[in-house]
Amino acid sequence: MLSRYFKPALLRKIAAKAGTPAYVYSKPLFLKQIRTYKKAFRALDPLFCYAMKANSNGALCALAAAEGWGADVVSGGELYRALKAGFEPGRIIFSGVGKTPAELEYALRAGILFINAESMEEVLELECAAARLKVKAPLSLRINPDVDPHTHKFIATGLLGTKFGVSFEEARAIYRYAAASPHLRPAGAQFHIGSQVHSPRPYALAARKLAAFISGLAGEGIRLSYADVGGGWGVKEGGEMADPAALAKAVGPAFSGLGLKLLLEPGRSVAAPAGVLLSSVIYRKRGGGKNFIIADAAMNDLVRPALYGARHPAGLVGPGRGGTKRWDIVGPVCESGDFLAEGVALKEPSAGQLIVFYSAGAYGFSMSSQYNSRPRAPEVLITGPSSWRLVRRRETYKDLLAAEL
Ligand SMILES: Cc1ncc(COP(=O)(O)O)c(C=O)c1O
Repeated sequence: MLSRYFKPALLRKIAAKAGTPAYVYSKPLFLKQIRTYKKAFRALDPLFCYAMKANSNGALCALAAAEGWGADVVSGGELYRALKAGFEPGRIIFSGVGKTPAELEYALRAGILFINAESMEEVLELECAAARLKVKAPLSLRINPDVDPHTHKFIATGLLGTKFGVSFEEARAIYRYAAASPHLRPAGAQFHIGSQVHSPRPYALAARKLAAFISGLAGEGIRLSYADVGGGWGVKEGGEMADPAALAKAVGPAFSGLGLKLLLEPGRSVAAPAGVLLSSVIYRKRGGGKNFIIADAAMNDLVRPALYGARHPAGLVGPGRGGTKRWDIVGPVCESGDFLAEGVALKEPSAGQLIVFYSAGAYGFSMSSQYNSRPRAPEVLITGPSSWRLVRRRETYKDLLAAEL
């Protein structure tokens, strides 16, 4: 149960000082997920590159860096954050389908491990950037293995027909081109089949395809050093991640004996369980036969329920009144899509009572916005049984206008 990492007394203290809504992360639980990964993969000795898009708060990233993890970044901004958080450049990789020439140049100047390119045009742009800087760019290709990850269509990326990656056939031609270029160095190959993937089977299938492809390339003299199996390992909302030993068992055997360094890019599975969104009840009302709790957190704080139909288990901090009823928990934003949870069984809360939404540590704050001119929530890190600190302050009304000219 995640609630043992987020004790009511501590949540009350945090709310009293930091206010609500607020994201609250548990350092012990974040570290536990990281160490569970390390243990599960010990025999394979991979490089873990934390997918910063899940949660790029500097305090969490610094914890991952201190555990020896690298970072998977998807924009110049994330690369900037990664370097500031203390990730070693030689452990940073850069993914994404639309890196700009300026971002590619930034990555080369920073001396990152490799760039996961996703098209021939991007490879040509990378070659030009490397030529300008008089360096040889370390190149990996994101290959679309055409494997169905069986997840929500917005986060399924492993099938041909999505915008992601290149086919094996195209990849072979690009590696041949890169091997002959004075400014490109074929370094690795990657797949990322999707997010919230709960079965190891699609990973095993994709890993076998990638390993066969890499062996074929080696047969023509193009030797890669890294096999990157992406991220995407799922978490049951409201629980810790599934044991990644199943993932290790799925991908490990495929690459055995090929002399490759294995890379993984976990994001959600590490960060999601380690965070909650803490909110307060503003009002209760009844309408159309339904009970509504109107909370002070909204879709601008946590968009996943509206965007993906994601379910974040919700609980009251402290007892409620009367019997259990079904509630829709909604926010103050002017959209019918502004809901945080639907049909949740809870006792009646009082106005001002705290509500906690679990499994909100990933794609929560990082996808938040100022929609409806709502300043973004603060982020808090629980560091011990009764200790915590603010790791990002609450935005102010002034922040809403800070970039306007
Ligand atoms: C290329 C890449 N790597 C890693 C990840 C992290 O996935 P997850 O947070 O599901 O582990 C993503 C997420 O979309 C991604 O696009």
